[in-house]
Amino acid sequence: MTGYFEFANPTRLCAGKGAIGNLAYELKMLQVMRPMILSDAVLAKIGTLHMVLDALREVRIGRIFTDIPRDSSIETVNRIAQEYRDYGCDGIVAVGGGSVLDTAKGVRLLISQGDDNLLDLMGCECLTKETHIPFVAIPTTAGTGSEATSVAVIRNPELNIKMEYISQQLMPDVAILDPKMTKTLPPRITASTGMDTLCHAIEAFSCLQKNPLSDAYAAQAIELVRDYLLKAVCHGYSKEARLAMANASFLAGAAFSNSMVGVVHAIGHALGGVCHVAHGDAMTILLPTGMLFNRKVCKKEYAKLLLYLAGPEIYVKTPEEKRADRAIHEVLALRNRLHRLTGLPVTLKEAGVDPASFPEVAKVALNDGAVIVNPRQVTYDAVIRILEVCYGD
Ligand SMILES: [Fe+2]
Repeated sequence: MTGYFEFANPTRLCAGKGAIGNLAYELKMLQVMRPMILSDAVLAKIGTLHMVLDALREVRIGRIFTDIPRDSSIETVNRIAQEYRDYGCDGIVAVGGGSVLDTAKGVRLLISQGDDNLLDLMGCECLTKETHIPFVAIPTTAGTGSEATSVAVIRNPELNIKMEYISQQLMPDVAILDPKMTKTLPPRITASTGMDTLCHAIEAFSCLQKNPLSDAYAAQAIELVRDYLLKAVCHGYSKEARLAMANASFLAGAAFSNSMVGVVHAIGHALGGVCHVAHGDAMTILLPTGMLFNRKVCKKEYAKLLLYLAGPEIYVKTPEEKRADRAIHEVLALRNRLHRLTGLPVTLKEAGVDPASFPEVAKVALNDGAVIVNPRQVTYDAVIRILEVCYGD
């Protein structure tokens, strides 16, 4: 950790049972008269989007767009931005998982910059013109933490990569966390997205840009995952568990948005771009092996994490020199339980990845920004080795 750090979390948070009822008021406070609602076809079909539209009975909606695919692309973002202009919208409400929220961020970026192609805006913090576009994020999964981050990941199908956009202008104005938005999330997706949250917190706590504030957010996120992820998986309708996981996702998102992630995310993004492995699944498969790779230089951080991963009793009983290994063991144990409960893949083989793609995955991973802040230097051979171990033969 360097002596200097920055930390920002300007997003106003409305969290709790019935929080969705605040949406119309929040839009009024943002002076939004004709919001564009972004979501996906599944959420429209199962009624989740309807709960949001119910809360907007008194609002004149500009446009509802529900055609966002699982891995949204630059073309989708460009198309929605055009519709935003055509329908005279003046703000965005995004209802969905990471893909919907990141798409909304891309649209906001385009509109605020007066541009019509997201490819023009590649790079970090390179934005000059700025028009504030009000943006409310309503996550329907508890995992990506996109509602609390300055990051958007958008697929570039031509290059077969996932492109990262990073800017403070991507932070939502308001995030609404309501347990009823995630109550129908199937156990398998609850598990996968929950492991993404855990991964954000662990990588934020151990990467080179960590700082005291991101540590505090990450530690609290890990405690919530420890206490509530299995409950949310086994008792999906538990409002307590769903809200706790939504809070964990927000906390971990804010942590890594102000710290960074590391090798697990670098390889995970590459596996997503090259082999189309779902992000949460990739995190589940890679996290323990990534921790083992970093253990050599992260022993102190992982030892501290044992307190949050296993609780004070186990922490105190474990000799200091064994705490880092025990922390990795706790992550493995949680992952294996989720695997038994939901069938979540724990190897790349189970996820259908062809080992012939490893060289391409490694090449893409080494170009990901997250490798720069990983606590241990990441080489091509190291990525190949991690992939081979994770393949699971
Ligand atoms: Fe992630």
